[in-house]
Amino acid sequence: MKRPIRKAVFPVGGLGTRFLPATKAMPKEMLPVVDKPLIEYAVEEAKAAGIEEFVFVTGRGKSAIEDHFDHSWELETSLYQRGKTELLEASRASLLKPGQVAYTRQQEPLGLGHAVWCARRIVGDEPFAVLLADDLVMADEPCLSQMVEVYNETGGNIVAVMDVPEDQTDRYGILDVVSEEGRLAKAKGLVEKPKPAEAPSTLSIIGRYILQPEVMRELDRQDTGAGGEIQLTDAMSRTIESVPFHGLRFDGQRFDCGSKEGFLEAQIAFALQREDLGEAMADILSRYGESARLVAS
Ligand code: UTP
Repeated sequence: MKRPIRKAVFPVGGLGTRFLPATKAMPKEMLPVVDKPLIEYAVEEAKAAGIEEFVFVTGRGKSAIEDHFDHSWELETSLYQRGKTELLEASRASLLKPGQVAYTRQQEPLGLGHAVWCARRIVGDEPFAVLLADDLVMADEPCLSQMVEVYNETGGNIVAVMDVPEDQTDRYGILDVVSEEGRLAKAKGLVEKPKPAEAPSTLSIIGRYILQPEVMRELDRQDTGAGGEIQLTDAMSRTIESVPFHGLRFDGQRFDCGSKEGFLEAQIAFALQREDLGEAMADILSRYGESARLVAS
């Protein structure tokens, strides 16, 4: 029996510079896709996978995230008095139970590995999940649930992976694959942001991880890697001899909401799926289709 994954870490300490000026006073993770903030999609995915404790690694200017997962008494009272039951429900949907949520602060954005390390005392000596809210995954079975299923068989470290175009390997952590079985790739190494010529494959890690305590212990070394940052991939890579490491080609579509293109595409894809907005979005797209073709040509 594998030790269950009960805790999830949400690193939300980044500066979100690609979305300035929107992110000057608002966390990137609070940007909405249709009408729900990115971070709420990630928390819902974690809940669906059986996560019981939610650890947010925040930074300066991120207090809106704490408020979002709390009561908003004035708003709730006002909605209640006006009989707006559905909106009241929508506002309460994001509430996390008392004691189920912890916030810790990354005082300087020194890298994803550093952000995860900041949660070490709250996570303790047990396996845990990490979810990056700006990687939004649309899937019938939520991405982290797919990973937990695999984890229950294989144990070890597991990351969600997808193939990326060859010229984009320098944007991702890339797997050095030793063998593949179905959707599962066993890795013998990991490289952070390799140049296309040096990339061992095109199988890239997206923002979903199941990690063993050994990774946290590696992060204790505080070694810096690519870009002078403390890289999570480097710490995972150093445990590869002792901890099995698998990449799961998840079923679903990933939107890179840390980039403007990915964020805009997510708006369209999620709106098209909605009962109340799908038709309207299809209509908008058909109206803009002609001008889009003109711009593209
Ligand atoms: P990104 O590489 O997208 O960086 O981080 P960023 O600062 O958020 O955004 P840009 O590039 O300036 O636009 C990926 C994830 O890791 C978290 C971010 O919050 C995001 O969820 N992160 C990154 C941290 O929590 N701390 C860090 O030091 C770096």
